[in-house]
Amino acid sequence: MILHRRSGSTVQGKRMQRFKPGRIWTDDRNRPINAHGGGILYRTGTRTYYWFGEHKNEDGAELRFGEPSSPTEPADGGAHVYSSQDLYAWHDEGLALPVVRDDPAHDLARGCVFERPKVVRSPATGLYVMWFKLFRRGAGYEVCHTGTAVAASPAGPYRYHGKFLAGQSEAGAGDFALFQDDDGRTFHFCSRKPTHEVYAAELQDDCLAPRRPYVRVIAGDNFEAPAVFKRHGKYYMMGSHCTGWEPNPARCAVAEAPLGRWREIGNPCLGEGRERTFDAQVTYVLPVAGRPDAFVFLADRWRPECPAQGRYVWLPIAFEGEQPVVRWINEWDLGWFEGREAEGRRQEAEGRRQEAGGRRQKAGGRGG
Ligand code: DGJ
Repeated sequence: MILHRRSGSTVQGKRMQRFKPGRIWTDDRNRPINAHGGGILYRTGTRTYYWFGEHKNEDGAELRFGEPSSPTEPADGGAHVYSSQDLYAWHDEGLALPVVRDDPAHDLARGCVFERPKVVRSPATGLYVMWFKLFRRGAGYEVCHTGTAVAASPAGPYRYHGKFLAGQSEAGAGDFALFQDDDGRTFHFCSRKPTHEVYAAELQDDCLAPRRPYVRVIAGDNFEAPAVFKRHGKYYMMGSHCTGWEPNPARCAVAEAPLGRWREIGNPCLGEGRERTFDAQVTYVLPVAGRPDAFVFLADRWRPECPAQGRYVWLPIAFEGEQPVVRWINEWDLGWFEGREAEGRRQEAEGRRQEAGGRRQKAGGRGG
């Protein structure tokens, strides 16, 4: 396929060492990475990242209002997983949870809408638990189930566990984030249908269901694509508005506790393209392992008519005071965080020098 050969992000056999937002990103088999609406799991022991996302079928098209937009393949093939040690080069681990092709009555029957898989490890059972959005085959877009699946090893295979309607809503909930706190508590943040306010609940120890009823954490409606992370003891949520596959301005909220009061602090994107999140929609915020202050904004450039050709927009998050800021960069690598840290340290040292100079002048003045 021409698009594969035109890839600017890798040369066959050569490992990619930079992020190139919006460009074709190929795996170790030189195929475009197929993991849309994804999220990352990091295993400390093996220092390995696992990228889970929607496998989009070649020749597939997204449904519109529950109907195919063209008489083609359904878009969704299940959850695809890739592994990496450096975040640039990804090894294809295959389908972690494929849709079911031989049983039309199965919840995951081919033709279902399977979106935004995210995986956490239950600290209690040691098992890997995948959550995903699930619209049953032929059932339209009104009711969105939350599905779960379990595996003994990170790349799977995952066994389907079941589905439920999240957020105490008969219509369930759509886009979501799973967030695991430093103390091992895991939370589900979801965009509750039909108003798309954000509701959240702490999960049971096995991470398979909420422990208690959901509470509303963001009252502003039409909040989609929540992605939660923690920095300096504060909790941040990136997200979007609700405009189907069309890009819209990103949004951001902050709280002192996962189920506490969340305060919206505006669009984190700055510069040209900020009103359309650089033509993308956030899916996850990745804390870079071993770099305490380094977070990456992971977003999707959707292509609903040919979803397998959707692209990824990964950008570093800067902090201006406590405000997260995302700017477009054509190409970058993790050294960006060192550069920024180095700049911070330079400014700090400069400040200290000026302070010391001021003190010396004062002391000199008094002596004279
Ligand atoms: C935006 C959501 O974030 C996506 O996951 C997908 O559900 C589309 N809407 C469907 O319109």
